[in-house]
Amino acid sequence: MKLLILNGPNLNLLGSREPEVYGNTSYNGLVSLIAAHAEKRQITADVEQYNCEGKLIDAIHAADGRYGGLIINPGALSHYSYALHDAIKAVSVDAVEVHLSNISAREEFRSKSVTAPACAGQISGLGFYGYLAAMDFFKQRDV
Ligand code: DQA
Repeated sequence: MKLLILNGPNLNLLGSREPEVYGNTSYNGLVSLIAAHAEKRQITADVEQYNCEGKLIDAIHAADGRYGGLIINPGALSHYSYALHDAIKAVSVDAVEVHLSNISAREEFRSKSVTAPACAGQISGLGFYGYLAAMDFFKQRDV
């Protein structure tokens, strides 16, 4: 089981960015947590982060045929990127959208995700655990 975990704009600033919303753990801390979980579950997890929409789209295109699943936190792009929606739809890799915060409980503009309808499902508000739960979803589906 090989998964691609993609993170969008500003997620590289985890730990320093609005810690009251996103917590004190750094982006590298998140990557380590994912790596430890992947090892436990015998998953190969490639984790990438891009601040540019086009790079995320390129990574999704490149994932086609190479991964058994895509876990994506598109950051703010979730709320307006039809291009990202189309990229997820364009490939045959199933995706799960993850948000650290509960996007339904914040500003109005965050409550709508235009990328989630392109995904199999969405996990929002469970912090870092959301990534691990999405990994488990793909793992149990693979057995
Ligand atoms: C986020 C939620 C988005 O609204 C925000 O723009 C982010 C992070 C989350 O993980 O909670 O960058 O995707």
